Amino acid sequence: MKNKISELLDSLKQEVSSVQDKKMLSELWQKYLGKKGAVSEIKKELGKVSKEERPALGKLINELSQKAEEIYRSAEKRLEHAELERRNKEEAVDITLPAEKIPGGVLHPISITRNNMINVFAGMGFEIFEGPEIEDDDHNFTRLNVAANHPARDMQDTFYVAKDILLRTHTSPGQIRVMDSKKPPIKVLVPGSVFRSYSDATHSPRFHQMEGLVVDKNITLCDLQGMLDQFVKGIFGEDVKTRLRPSYFPFTEPSVEVDVSCFECGGKGCSLCKHTGWIEVLGGGIVHHSVLENCGIDPNEYSGLAFGIGIERIAMLKYGINNISLLFENDLRFLEQFRD
Ligand code: PHE
Repeated sequence: MKNKISELLDSLKQEVSSVQDKKMLSELWQKYLGKKGAVSEIKKELGKVSKEERPALGKLINELSQKAEEIYRSAEKRLEHAELERRNKEEAVDITLPAEKIPGGVLHPISITRNNMINVFAGMGFEIFEGPEIEDDDHNFTRLNVAANHPARDMQDTFYVAKDILLRTHTSPGQIRVMDSKKPPIKVLVPGSVFRSYSDATHSPRFHQMEGLVVDKNITLCDLQGMLDQFVKGIFGEDVKTRLRPSYFPFTEPSVEVDVSCFECGGKGCSLCKHTGWIEVLGGGIVHHSVLENCGIDPNEYSGLAFGIGIERIAMLKYGINNISLLFENDLRFLEQFRD
């Protein structure tokens, strides 16, 4: 019997080393330690031996049972450890790998340009005012001194929503709304979308303008030129100069067209400035006395200056964009280039 016990232990030790998984482990349990396992069988045989031999053999069998269980537990531990190792390897994260990119949005070039423009004017003390995109004829035309038969009222240029209701064709109705709601001194910017029924490579039916209005005592064309000088320097660079040319708008008198010296060639002449050395950037002038009167402001006491800047035009010049539709197609390959 002694031999049997040590043989049993030997064969368990041998078998345990080849246990690879949980299934083999439970088979091992059943074979040796289960109810009908080898250890239980040997225990049963103890009844058959003589009384004298029994205590010593009983002790040996108990030791066998204990040892067998220890061997089993250490195999169990070994498997658990191996399993943990495997999972650690499988789920390991290499923290030295470059992180996955999270695609973030960027500001649209129109927004970038608008913000830059606002920044420059904010430095001169301008406040922001926003008016409605759907306007009435009164604010968009009549009170801006646009005569009833003026071509700007033609259906060709204006999107009408109903009789006398339209999509504003410029931000100038903002001038009227500001002067209706505020007494001078006034110094406001009115940025926003405007709409005209016309499109080509440099015109879109919807585009953006930024209106400027200053009303105070003794405002002159010099103030206009001084402010616009600051503006173009802020946007295009310190070396850029402005030039005023006489023009016509019904709501300003005198009216001017403002050119900047070409920031591409420095005024020598290139394709951007069409070899003139100058680029037209905006319109403006001294607020027409009728417009002030239409808003209850005495033109003998106050005078004003106004200007309207096309935001697309500034963005296209600044970034060298040759087709306005690029600004509205929202092609990511185009927009991605404005990530800073
Ligand atoms: N509203 C004019 C336009 O859209 C621009 C302008 C604004 C001119 C203010 C003079 C004064 O063309």
